[in-house]
Amino acid sequence: MNKPTCAQDIGGWFEGGSLSWVAEVAPKCQLVIEIGVWLGRSTYQWCEHCPGKVIAIDHFLGSESHGERNTTHKRAVADRDGLIAEAKHNLSRWIDNGKLELLEMSSAQAALQLDGCVMADLVYIDSDHSYECVSEEITRWLPLVKPGGILAGHDRTWQGVKRAIDELLPDWENGGGCTWQYQHPK
Ligand SMILES: C[S@@+](CC[C@H](N)C(=O)[O-])C[C@H]1O[C@@H](n2cnc3c(N)ncnc32)[C@H](O)[C@@H]1O
Repeated sequence: MNKPTCAQDIGGWFEGGSLSWVAEVAPKCQLVIEIGVWLGRSTYQWCEHCPGKVIAIDHFLGSESHGERNTTHKRAVADRDGLIAEAKHNLSRWIDNGKLELLEMSSAQAALQLDGCVMADLVYIDSDHSYECVSEEITRWLPLVKPGGILAGHDRTWQGVKRAIDELLPDWENGGGCTWQYQHPK
């Protein structure tokens, strides 16, 4: 299997508008944390454009809500090891040069592990899109965003995502494409 040379070579749902937004904001970041890797499409883009370090988190079990383990994320249930191997293959350029740390664990476990150890310029949430999960992710990850940094995520038009950001981050703005972004006060 050929190694990808850009994010667009990797399958997934991360559309052009969000890829462009990443290319715009990543160069200003020394540490990006992303939750939701799948095959590494968005992760590759963060690595290509961030001059510092990227920490990417996924339990590779697919998303629990919206029946995704039986639909879009069926592969995670059928062949989790194969999914992890393909993600690592796609991202090997960045793992091998030390830019990317891939944490194969749940978002909750990772937040506990990283809390008190790092502060990110930007945390990007693209995992489970239910209202409950997005609310939990916002609460968990906002404290790990530097003052003046950005908390952002994908699929702002999904009902659960929109409800969570409207309630918890009422000053959120459109990023590119399906991305929402919130500037943490300084
Ligand atoms: C929409 S996909 C990510 C797509 C990816 N950003 C891309 O560019 O293709 C969502 C991913 O989040 C992961 N996920 C869902 N809930 C999670 C959780 N609680 N902790 C860690 N990963 C989770 C799933 O395993 C899945 O790989």
